[in-house]
Amino acid sequence: MHTVLALETSCDESAAAVVRDGVVLSNEVASQVEEHARYGGVVPELASRRHVEALPVLVERALQGAGLPLSAMDAVAATVAPGLLGALLVGSVTGRTLARLAGVPFLGIHHLEGHLCSALVGDPAPQPPLLVLLVSGGHTELIALRQLGQYERLAGSRDDAAGEAFDKVARLLQLGYPGGPAIEAAAVGGDPQRFAFPPGRISLPEGGFHPYDFSFSGLKTAVLREVERWTQRGETLPVADLAASFQHVVCKVLVQRSVRCAEDHGLDGLVVVGGVSANSELRSQLQQACQARGLALHLAPLAWCTDNAAMIGLAACRRLAAGQSSDISLGVAPRLPLAEADALYGPPPF
Ligand code: KG4
Ligand code: ZN
Repeated sequence: MHTVLALETSCDESAAAVVRDGVVLSNEVASQVEEHARYGGVVPELASRRHVEALPVLVERALQGAGLPLSAMDAVAATVAPGLLGALLVGSVTGRTLARLAGVPFLGIHHLEGHLCSALVGDPAPQPPLLVLLVSGGHTELIALRQLGQYERLAGSRDDAAGEAFDKVARLLQLGYPGGPAIEAAAVGGDPQRFAFPPGRISLPEGGFHPYDFSFSGLKTAVLREVERWTQRGETLPVADLAASFQHVVCKVLVQRSVRCAEDHGLDGLVVVGGVSANSELRSQLQQACQARGLALHLAPLAWCTDNAAMIGLAACRRLAAGQSSDISLGVAPRLPLAEADALYGPPPF
């Protein structure tokens, strides 16, 4: 039996959780969103400082919530890549110190593996082979999971991540930060067909378009042009219709390309994780498309879509069960492809 204290501090959520063999015993999250909202996005230095302040309290609460002392932990885990450098360091140093104090192994966890594990729950848990659509504020990727721990990146965004597009368009529409939930709320009652925004396709040198890669920067510019047209005419922005039309096209391309990619690669299960997977329009479009094509759809519980430490604990339990742990001198990496997550368990790569 493995009981893990897990920490997450890669961006603007400070979090601690206790997970035992894939069962989440406690899950504490302190969001800094309101503070960063004042600046229209995440301020890295501010994020690090808030993690330093929040983490000890969250660790205390997570242990109390699980009804267990630190000495009952079999390992301590923390997100070490990818993310904001200073923010990652707070979790890493805290995690390694607590691991040493408790005399147990430390596990550095890849944030995206954490997101993935948030959907690999249930009884029975989804089994590979699977296609993973990872849609967060920093990543939009399609990854083949043929065996647990082995990741093959098949496609992704060539520019902005889907969550980043939501955040940027929300700013254009003056809806605040984070943009995803704000756009989703503003789109209620809006007409998703009113504006035909471009789906963002990647041209191939030999002609035609890339079947699965995404591009969201042109879509953001198209919304900007529409906003400019209305503003120049001195008319009130049709915010609900703009938000609904933008949301509709983002979800449509995510669903269409994921389904096609899964079918072309013979993967009959689709796992969708990351902050954007909380979007109800995306969840309903996915459900319809997967049902129509006979694909099994696996979505993370809503509470685990955005950043949390439960998912880091779930990933740590899988690594521990495979007999893996990290070197106590392991550092952090702001950028590390998911396909290289195994490197966190050998001699420290950084
Ligand atoms: O996974 P996450 O919490 O952090 C990263 O690892 O990036 O994802 C945050 C992103 C933000 O861009 C946010 O706007 C987006 O997820 N997001 C949503 C929704 N909730 C969060 N996007 C669309 N609809 C939502 N309901
Ligand atoms: Zn995340």
